[in-house]
Amino acid sequence: MAAPMVEIKNIHKRFGKLEVLKGVDFEVQEGETVCLIGSSGSGKSTLLRCINLLEHADDGQILVFGQDVLHTKDVNHFRAKVGMCFQQFNLFANMTVVENCIKPQMKVLKVSKEEARKTAMKYLEKVGMAEFANADVRRISGGQKQRVAIARALCMNPKLMLFDEPTSALDPEMVGEVLNIMKELAEEGMTMIIVTHEMGFARDVADRVVFMDQGQIEEQGTPEQLFNNPQSERTKEFLKASVYK
Ligand SMILES: Nc1ncnc2c1ncn2[C@@H]1O[C@H](COP(=O)(O)OP(=O)(O)O)[C@@H](O)[C@H]1O
Ligand SMILES: [Mg+2]
Repeated sequence: MAAPMVEIKNIHKRFGKLEVLKGVDFEVQEGETVCLIGSSGSGKSTLLRCINLLEHADDGQILVFGQDVLHTKDVNHFRAKVGMCFQQFNLFANMTVVENCIKPQMKVLKVSKEEARKTAMKYLEKVGMAEFANADVRRISGGQKQRVAIARALCMNPKLMLFDEPTSALDPEMVGEVLNIMKELAEEGMTMIIVTHEMGFARDVADRVVFMDQGQIEEQGTPEQLFNNPQSERTKEFLKASVYK
């Protein structure tokens, strides 16, 4: 088998006295869609943020694309290959939809405005937002904002996409439109790590589901293994509680 795209060995992360990641080992193969589930505070966001260096792990090793990211000198170059979408979208509020997609390309990839616009329109088309290209991002819905955030990330031609609860801030009727795009990306073979509370989505789309508990990976497996035949008591408790969410 080829080397994993993401290879994490025994990482630890502390915030002051609080140890948030307590020796996590984790791998993601190219083309894999991995859903990360677990209670609030279990360290899911921190794990994701350590992968693209928004947080710096205290200990252990993180290899992404075979590169030792904890010792990389060129953080920006590395990060350009990793797309990230957040719960709160993090769009530039003072720009239009298409400008949100153009700016990072010009800044990081150093492409011309014309080329950046072409790429932007291609991905806005893909997420069904082309007709809103010139809209003020403050005036579109949450679901539309998240679709723009995904398009913006795709414009950078990432090899890996990280999603941190991309639908948690959305009204229920908008969740589907965002999940559908992620499903499409998974089917196209994008490598993705998705923190989510959407168990139906995880069951349907994930190649592998990873359950985190108190800063550690408690259990992982195919959706079928994890949802239908969980081994650990903690996993069983968590899944039982999630049914009523
Ligand atoms: N920047 C930070 N400073 C201090 N504590 C943090 C910080 N980020 C996260 N934490 C703490 O780390 C723990 C894990 O947080 P997080 O990774 O956000 O969990 P999850 O995403 O699973 O809800 C929580 O107790 C949280 O309060
Ligand atoms: Mg989180």
